[in-house]
Amino acid sequence: MKLIYNSLYDCAVEVLEACGEIKENAEIVAENLIKADARGINTHGTYLLTPIWERANAKQLSLPTNAYIAVDEGATAVIDGGDGLGAVAGILAVKTAVQKAKQYGVASVLIRNTNNIGALACYTEVAAKEGMIAIMSCNAAPAMAPWGGSEAFLGTNPFAIGIYTGHDMVFSADMASSVVARGKIRKAARNGETIPDYWATDDEGNFTTDPNAALKGALLPMSGPKGSAIALAVDIISGMLSGAQYAPNLKSFHTPEGATGVGASLIVIDISRFMDLKVFQEHMEGYIKSIKSMKKAKGFDEIFIPGEIEYKKEQDSYKYGIELDEKAVKAIDSICEAFRLKNRLGGQL
Ligand SMILES: NC(=O)c1ccc[n+]([C@@H]2O[C@H](COP(=O)([O-])OP(=O)(O)OC[C@H]3O[C@@H](n4cnc5c(N)ncnc54)[C@H](O)[C@@H]3O)[C@@H](O)[C@H]2O)c1
Repeated sequence: MKLIYNSLYDCAVEVLEACGEIKENAEIVAENLIKADARGINTHGTYLLTPIWERANAKQLSLPTNAYIAVDEGATAVIDGGDGLGAVAGILAVKTAVQKAKQYGVASVLIRNTNNIGALACYTEVAAKEGMIAIMSCNAAPAMAPWGGSEAFLGTNPFAIGIYTGHDMVFSADMASSVVARGKIRKAARNGETIPDYWATDDEGNFTTDPNAALKGALLPMSGPKGSAIALAVDIISGMLSGAQYAPNLKSFHTPEGATGVGASLIVIDISRFMDLKVFQEHMEGYIKSIKSMKKAKGFDEIFIPGEIEYKKEQDSYKYGIELDEKAVKAIDSICEAFRLKNRLGGQL
C-alpha cells in the first residue's frame, strides 16, 4: 500500500502525541521513522509505532522524552536519552556533535539510557550535509553470537559513515554487523522457506537452514570474525564507554520487560579543517565518477555508491508514495482507533 508523506506524517505525529510525547519531539520521531520507510528499511519505520504504543501503555517508556546533555566538556559530550524515544536523543547528539566539530574540528558525542534509535543514516546524513564526515554506531538487544560462540550475546550492532559530497546525495554507508536482520529469518519462518546456512546457528551452535531453529539460536556476524570484531567494538564504545548497557544486558524494545538501555556513539569530523571543502567536493566527484564509470563485473549493470540505492528509493517514495505493508497500516490504524484519533491511514480494521 502506498501512502503520501503528509498523511503518514500527520498520523504518526498524532499517535506519538497520544502516547505522551510532546509535539516537537513527535515531529522529530515521525520524520525519522518515515525516512526509514521511504528508504525501504521498514524494520526501522512506522511499524515501530506499535512497540512504542505498547511500551507507553506498559509505562515502560518515559514520555515526553527528556533527552539532555549530561556531560559537556570541550569537543566531547554525553547525552542522556532519558529512557525516551531514541530519535530525539539521536538528533540532539548529531546537532551537538556538528556544533562542536565546527568549533573544535572533531567532536565525539555518546548517548546512554535511550531506546531503539532506528536507521543510523538518519543522523549521519544530517552531519554529512553540513560539510562533515560522521561515524556512528549503536548497540541493541542480544541476538548474535560473537564468532565461535553459540549464545546471543551481542545485538545486530549497526554502524554508519556519512560523508559530504556537495550534493543532496551524500556518501552513506549504513549497516547492521550481522549477516542479515532477524526480521528476514522471521519472514522465512512465516513463509515456510529455508534460509542459507551462513545466517544463523540453532540453540546448540549448529549452522542451520531451518528458520525456526535459527530463531531459537543466534544470528551470525557479517564476514565471520571480522563482523564479530566490529560488533564487539561497537558494543564497547557505544554501550560500555557511554555508560549504557552492553553485552546481553540490553532488553528488546519489542517486549516490555524493562528499560532497553541502548547506547550510541557519534564522531564528527569537520572536513574544512583538513581540506578546503570545495576541493574535497571536487575530489569526491572525480572519485565517484571513476567508480561509476569503471568496467562492470559479470552480471552487474551499475555500480552503486553506499546509500545510493536508498537515496533513490527515498526520492521515489516522496514523489510516488511510501510503501507500507497492509499489516503495518492496519496496526497503526488500530492504535488510532484505540485512542479515538482523527487520523486513519485507510487500512481495513
Ligand atoms: N538501531 C538498531 O538497533 C539497528 C540494528 C540493526 C540495523 N539497523 C539499521 O538497519 C538498516 C539496514 O541495515 P542492513 O545491514 O540490512 O543494510 P543493507 O544490507 O541493506 O545495506 C548495507 C549497506 O550496503 C549498501 N548497499 C546495499 N546494496 C548495495 C549494492 N548493490 N551496491 C552498493 N552498495 C550497496 C547500502 O547502501 C548500505 O550502505 C540500517 O539503517 C541500520 O542502521 C538498526
